[in-house]
Amino acid sequence: MDTFKAISTKLDVREFKSQRVPGDIKRKVLEAARLTGSAMNRQEWRFVLIQDRADLKKLAADSRTGKWVEGADFAIIILVDPKVFAHMIDAGRVLQDMELAAWNFGVASGIYMGVDEGALRKDFAIPEALMFTAVLGFGYPKRKILGKKDRKPLEEIAFSEKFGQKFTAKDFS
Ligand SMILES: Cc1cc2nc3c(=O)[nH]c(=O)nc-3n(C[C@H](O)[C@H](O)[C@H](O)COP(=O)(O)O)c2cc1C
Repeated sequence: MDTFKAISTKLDVREFKSQRVPGDIKRKVLEAARLTGSAMNRQEWRFVLIQDRADLKKLAADSRTGKWVEGADFAIIILVDPKVFAHMIDAGRVLQDMELAAWNFGVASGIYMGVDEGALRKDFAIPEALMFTAVLGFGYPKRKILGKKDRKPLEEIAFSEKFGQKFTAKDFS
C-alpha cells in the first residue's frame, strides 16, 4: 500500500474478527519496529508479543482504557528506557511504524495507555528499569473501515514561514 494511503486510511480499531493474523505478518510488524530509527540509534525499546488468548485476557484485565484488547488477535507491549534521551519520541515512532506495517496487510490496530501498572508488570514480567508506554492491539477489523477522520483543518495546525501566518496558493505551487 502507498504510504500516504496507509496514513490517510488508518483509523484506530477496537473491534476485531476472530480470523487469525498469519505469523509472517506478525513478524513483519516486529521487523518494522526493529528497523525504526531511534535517538542516537540507541534502540532502547523492548517489545512483548502477546498472542495467547489467556494472556490477552490478562492484558485486558490489567488495563483501564483498553479492555477491548481482549478481542484482538495479538497485542504488543511497548517499553522504553526512561533514562534514554527522547524515549517518548522513540516510542511514538516505533508504534506508528508497527501500526502502518500491519495496515499495509489490512491488519487494523488500536492503542491504549491506561493500565494498572503494578498488575501489568507482575503479569508480564516487565523489569523495573523499563518504562511502560503503550499497548497496541492488532487484528482484522470487524467492520469495514470507511476511512473518515475527525481531524482539524491543516490551516489550524500548520503555518507558512511564521507561526500564525496562513498559507497562500503560492506555498503549494
Ligand atoms: C498517545 C495515545 C494514547 C491513546 N490512548 C488510548 C487509550 O488509552 N484507549 C483507547 O481506546 N484509545 C486510545 N488512543 C486512541 C485515540 O483515541 C485515537 O487515536 C484517536 O481518537 C483518533 O482515532 P482515529 O484515528 O480512529 O480517528 C490513544 C491514542 C494515542 C495517540
